[in-house]
Amino acid sequence: MRQRLVAANWKMHGDRAFARQLMGQLKTSLSALDKEAQVVIIPPAQLLADVSDLAKGSSIEVGAQNLAQWESGAFTGEISAEMLADVGARYALVGHSERRSLFAENDDVVAAKVARVLATEMKVIFCCGESLAQRESGSAQAVVDAQLAAGLREVSSGQWGKVIVAYEPVWAIGTGKTASPEDAQEIHAGIRVALKRLGAPEDDVPVIYGGSVKESNARELFAQPDVDGGLVGGASLDAQAFAAICRAV
Ligand code: PGA
Repeated sequence: MRQRLVAANWKMHGDRAFARQLMGQLKTSLSALDKEAQVVIIPPAQLLADVSDLAKGSSIEVGAQNLAQWESGAFTGEISAEMLADVGARYALVGHSERRSLFAENDDVVAAKVARVLATEMKVIFCCGESLAQRESGSAQAVVDAQLAAGLREVSSGQWGKVIVAYEPVWAIGTGKTASPEDAQEIHAGIRVALKRLGAPEDDVPVIYGGSVKESNARELFAQPDVDGGLVGGASLDAQAFAAICRAV
């Protein structure tokens, strides 16, 4: 049985009061959640220590949105994988399309960050996905396959148990447009084929969907055989909406 997982990407939203309130509401509303589904909260870095404290006594785990591609050193303003793990992060996002496009993270940077995460006890949530132009030109699967091959090239055979793939079509992120469950399923099945080519135990790696996941579409998306959960941005800032998405997994 693959791990099912719903992760909340708060992006650059939230202060300590927001975190206290939202975590309080989530702990109450998710207390009866099926233990097979892992809920991960991924707040901005300044809230990691608070959120991991607030998550104590629940099954909720905490993740980081970003990390440095270096182990340590004179990199003013950067935060290493070890530092994030030290304040309670158990997961880290790498390869998010906003990092790729707004911060010019190329495949080499992404691959280095994956390696840094896997050198700690954290798991990596590796994001991939095509743009609208790439989808319209029929190259969605090829783009995703290339991102997987490049970004996951440093993963060794013993590390696949710490890899989660998030398929996030760029045109669906923050736009209100969601891939249809059939389109998501098609790419997710293709991702398993690509993972197998990389030497991964493809049926054991969770592959989650992201891009305008909300209460109204979560159940149908998560019902697809190769969709193991979701990476949720906007809707994760609302405790009730996010709890409903978690219950749909
Ligand atoms: P969204 O963001 O749910 O707001 O589309 C998803 C993401 O970027 O991870």
